[in-house]
Parts: sequence; structure tokens; C-alpha cells
Amino acid sequence: MKIMDKTKQKNALMIAFPIEAGNFKDAGEASSKIKSRLLQLGFQGPLIRRVAIATYEAEMNLVIHSEGGIIKAEINPGSVIILVTDVGPGISDLNKAMQEGFSTAPEHVREMGFGAGMGLPNMCSCASEFFIDSEIGKGTTIKMLIS
Ligand SMILES: Nc1ncnc2c1ncn2[C@@H]1O[C@H](COP(=O)(O)OP(=O)(O)OP(=O)(O)O)[C@@H](O)[C@H]1O
Ligand SMILES: [Mg+2]
Repeated sequence: MKIMDKTKQKNALMIAFPIEAGNFKDAGEASSKIKSRLLQLGFQGPLIRRVAIATYEAEMNLVIHSEGGIIKAEINPGSVIILVTDVGPGISDLNKAMQEGFSTAPEHVREMGFGAGMGLPNMCSCASEFFIDSEIGKGTTIKMLIS
């Protein structure tokens, strides 16, 4: 079954974090808390790293490009599903956005070291399954299975 059709497993542990647009001060907290939880639960280092990178990139995209959203982690034995939803402008050309180096990040964000256009490609390479959907003027949804 494809990731986009998967519903929550019965005994899954769910943790959720609201992400505020433009809040660079707290950015990275959701990914670091998910990482700590997985460490506590005894997940393997390489899987934790992939979850942490994918979640961090998703989190930064919400801070930079959206008007705010939620990141949820569904933790199952041996695998994690990261669900990202935001309210915002959406992405007009998903194929373009998925390409390495494509970025619409404004100058003041680039000055902080973001805007290489590597976030979505990174998420994709960290995920075992990756799903993205976006609606112009509404927002973006990403679902990633990391196993
Ligand atoms: N949640 C989002 N809402 C609206 N647009 C988005 C969102 N996420 C990504 N985008 C669009 O897709 C582009 C590519 O995203 P990606 O994460 O790959 O690069 P970036 O955020 O611009 O730079 P980097 O992630 O390397 O700092 C963004 O520049 C932006 O135009
Ligand atoms: Mg990004």
C-alpha cells in the first residue's frame, strides 16, 4: 500500500508540533524533539538521522515558505511516518520545486544560510516513500515514511 493511502496504525505513538511561520528562534525544535524520542525508544542511529534531516527540512520550509502548520510523527515499531501540513501559498510547480537548486527564498532568508533549494530533494532522499500535494492559495501536505 502506498504511503498516501496509509491510515494510522492501531498502537502507533503520535506526537505533534505546531510550527509558526517566521519563527526562526524556535525552528528546529520539532525535529530535535522527535529525534530525542526516537533515541529514547531505541531506534537505530541511521534511521533517526534520516528522520531528523527530513523533519528539519520540512520544519524550515514551514517557517520560511508557509503561514504556519503542524508536523506530526507517527511512530511504529521500526518505522516512522512524518506528516506535514501547512496553510499557505502552496507550490505552483511541484516538479520544479522538487529539483535540486530551485528556491524562491527571499534575500533576507538566504543571508541566514537557507535557500539552497535542497530541502525537498533532501526529504525525498531520506524517505523510503515520499508523497507531496499542494493547492495554490491553500497549503501543502507532505507524507514521508522512513523505515
Ligand atoms: N511549505 C511550502 N509552502 C510553499 N512553498 C514551498 C513550501 N515548501 C517548499 N516550497 C517551495 O519550494 C521551493 C523549494 O523548496 P526547498 O526546501 O527544496 O528549498 P528552499 O527551502 O528554497 O531552500 P533550502 O531548503 O535549501 O534552504 C521553495 O523555495 C518554495 O518556493
Ligand atoms: Mg527548504
